[in-house]
Amino acid sequence: MVLRRFSSVTRPVSLTVEKFPGYNRNHRFKKLTDDDVSYFESIVGKRGYICNVDELSPYNIDWMNKFRGQSPLVLLPRNTQQISDILQYCNEQKLAVVPQGGNTSLAGGSVPIFDEIILSMRHMNRIRSFDNVSGILTADAGCILEVLDNWLAEKGYMMPLDLAAKGSCQIGGNIATNAGGLRLLRYGSLHGSVLGLEVVLPNGTVLNNMSTLRKDNTGFDLKQLFIGSEGTIGIITGVSILTPLRSKAVNVAMLGLNSFEDVQDAFKHARLELSEILSAFEFWDNQSFQIYKKHFPYKDIMTKDYPFYILIETSGSNKRHDDEKLTDYLGQMMNNGIAQDGVVAQDQKQIKDLWDVRDGLTGALGKEPAVYKYDISIPVANIWHCAQDMRHHLCMGGVFGEKDSPVTDVVAYGHIGDGNVHLNIVTKDLDTRVSDLIEPYLFEWVAKHQGSISAEHGLGVAKNEFLGYSKTPEMIELMKTLKNILDPNGILNPYKYLPQT
Ligand code: FAD
Ligand code: MLT
Ligand code: ZN
Repeated sequence: MVLRRFSSVTRPVSLTVEKFPGYNRNHRFKKLTDDDVSYFESIVGKRGYICNVDELSPYNIDWMNKFRGQSPLVLLPRNTQQISDILQYCNEQKLAVVPQGGNTSLAGGSVPIFDEIILSMRHMNRIRSFDNVSGILTADAGCILEVLDNWLAEKGYMMPLDLAAKGSCQIGGNIATNAGGLRLLRYGSLHGSVLGLEVVLPNGTVLNNMSTLRKDNTGFDLKQLFIGSEGTIGIITGVSILTPLRSKAVNVAMLGLNSFEDVQDAFKHARLELSEILSAFEFWDNQSFQIYKKHFPYKDIMTKDYPFYILIETSGSNKRHDDEKLTDYLGQMMNNGIAQDGVVAQDQKQIKDLWDVRDGLTGALGKEPAVYKYDISIPVANIWHCAQDMRHHLCMGGVFGEKDSPVTDVVAYGHIGDGNVHLNIVTKDLDTRVSDLIEPYLFEWVAKHQGSISAEHGLGVAKNEFLGYSKTPEMIELMKTLKNILDPNGILNPYKYLPQT
């Protein structure tokens, strides 16, 4: 599936600086000149950059149509040396740079705020090597996740992560955001599966740490610093990653449930009964489902609506064994009254149909006039409590009259297995009255419940100012120190990630 690059909402997107007037351009950054462009042309060639206003706009606007920068230049390097030459020059000249992968960030991290140069990784898309015995893949960071996954499928392997943006997002962008997604429950986080990285530091130095070893206890594990650093301390150019064998037997089931307690019970039982073959456990509420059905064709997978839905995937090596286990589990769910209804996919097409519902929630919400997206992690038991509290706070708390409320829905879905819920507040338009009510209220709630304000999507420009709700002042100070050591001129992805105020 190749996603559309940008949200289908066609309203004009105002500049980030107009919408969030607190930002001031850092006057220490140089403004781009014709001489700079000529210099870049000498590195990337005539076809290696874009400065035509019409062609620039998709690179300046984010996937949600929420943030819009004003970059006059996109660079499209083809190899690590070109990126090194570009950064060395930018660092000397104090030209600010935003690394951009597939531009599917949901935190506004991938687009500039002012006139930062965009360094697009889209032409860095070579697979470098694959070891058919260990499953270790090395590739350029600009390879699209789905392309890698399809390439591996032919060799009996798969990428250890999967997300609905797979048709557009790049492995480098995934690592830069430490993306979680739908397979984390089974294959763990990128902090575990990434074995090595090649990174260009802001001064142009190439840090070659493309290890293909599973075990290596020599010195600080520097690659970990770049996983989840959102393009602020280096540009990831190469990736070495451990890929699992593709399972021979995959089953997918979707169940309808009456309460969030039932969702938790179903999860507990799934871990117990399906144990080693459980590969995904996702949930969504009926409100999300209604929005999905409003925007996408739906083939009546279930005839009735339920308050909650779960999608369970099993992946193993013996179909008969897995079928038996899943049938037993589903029987228990129905007999115990935990699930009210359920379907099991009978073939690849039906597997895709079920996954399409879960994968399509983000796209469906993207078709609403405006959405405030949150990706918090909190202890599972509190997930539904949080959604209800937010609903009450925004809709029923009496702040807005029922008729005049700018809020049309508060919906929740996510990765139950990872304690990660996506709370989406749907509104008639972007409205500061609503955002002021949500923030910092939600972040305070999350901190009080020992959660994280961002489980997946990162901080970018959407959550950087709220980092203190998840990290102590000492930790933030150390992060700032590290940023200053690696990027003393602050040229990489400025104004984002760390609190500016
Ligand atoms: P971009 O959006 O281009 O960039 C993201 C950040 O990384 C930016 O700060 C950018 O500067 C930096 N960056 C990009 N490439 C590099 C590089 N090579 N070196 C250094 N920095 C770089 N996230 C999840 O965690 N789980 C999900 O399930 C999930 N589902 C999604 C579904 C949809 C439909 C969409 C639109 C997004 C979803 N996301 C999800 C958000 C997720 O962060 C991104 O999809 C993905 O990981 C970002 O990759 P990208 O290549 O698009 O990076
Ligand atoms: C998901 O799990 O679907 C993604 O993280 C995107 C979203 O939050 O909508
Ligand atoms: Zn997610």
